[in-house]
Amino acid sequence: MTTIITRPEPRTRPAVEAGTRIPEPSGTPVAAARQADPPAVLVEGATKRFFVGRGRKPVMAVDDVSLTVGRGEIYGLLGANGGGKSTLIRLMSTLLTLDEGRIEVFGHDIEREEMAVKRLINRVSVDAAFFKKLSPFENLLFAARMYGIPDGRAKEESIRILARLGISEKRLGRPTEQMSRGMQQKVAIARALLTSPTVLLLDEPTTGLDPRSKLDVQAYVEEVRETQDASIVLTTHDLAEAERLCDRIGILDSGRLVVEGTARELQARVALDHALAPTLHSAFMAYTGRSLDDDVEEPTGEEDGDD
Ligand SMILES: Nc1ncnc2c1ncn2[C@@H]1O[C@H](COP(=O)(O)OP(=O)(O)O)[C@@H](O)[C@H]1O
Ligand SMILES: [Mg+2]
Repeated sequence: MTTIITRPEPRTRPAVEAGTRIPEPSGTPVAAARQADPPAVLVEGATKRFFVGRGRKPVMAVDDVSLTVGRGEIYGLLGANGGGKSTLIRLMSTLLTLDEGRIEVFGHDIEREEMAVKRLINRVSVDAAFFKKLSPFENLLFAARMYGIPDGRAKEESIRILARLGISEKRLGRPTEQMSRGMQQKVAIARALLTSPTVLLLDEPTTGLDPRSKLDVQAYVEEVRETQDASIVLTTHDLAEAERLCDRIGILDSGRLVVEGTARELQARVALDHALAPTLHSAFMAYTGRSLDDDVEEPTGEEDGDD
């Protein structure tokens, strides 16, 4: 079966206040057509094991996970360190191959139609790689050329996106290595958005950022969703961030998706099932049996280092 993806025109809505959601009119032909569309991301029974030493049991980094991310949705993956968030993101972005299960992006199988999937997605990871001696501008233009985006347009877009993230043009000329981590993270986000991805995979986009940069990035993620018809998968340790940004949240624990729902649903459910305070924090504790700061497993030193 071939599925034709028509890239939707960016929505030209006025900017909305953070947290406000404009409801999609239901019952219209557009709404009906959208329902028939494949989801932005479909994950079915995804499993990934790592073998970290002879004779040792494999690590189930992602263990039989199934979920869907709707078009235009921000789906949050919440989990302690080592829970499997990055592995799942890397599987979605075709950087790793599945041991079992399948993943589709807008109906395209990530293994059989890898090139189609690559055109639709982009990923920003917590430790994005740059040519450190080159300026952000040079890094952005390099990335744009790889995607066949003309220099002029890339320049204009970079300036626009970075201005929105609070970085002025005159700071874009010096070597990237001299910029703070917050600034580098913003440049990484701008780079991912230059290609107008339909599905944006953000792996801990705000971890380690100063509070101001964190708010800038969060506001920008909301803006992207409102203005660009992007579907976003975002991983985070930050409960307030998940609550603010995510339409739905899935909690990963030792590679398994232990619970999923809107923040409100998770809060209500933990109160009902466990008679705990209706907060995401108690939901996390109740469904994983651990605190968000626990490390599930020490790094093995065998990380792929894909960025
Ligand atoms: N390349 C790898 N080689 C071996 N083990 C890995 C590799 N990548 C991840 N793991 C292991 O898989 C598990 C999940 O890791 P990860 O997906 O990075 O979790 P998270 O992003 O939630 O912190 C951890 O136990 C981690 O040590
Ligand atoms: Mg991670």
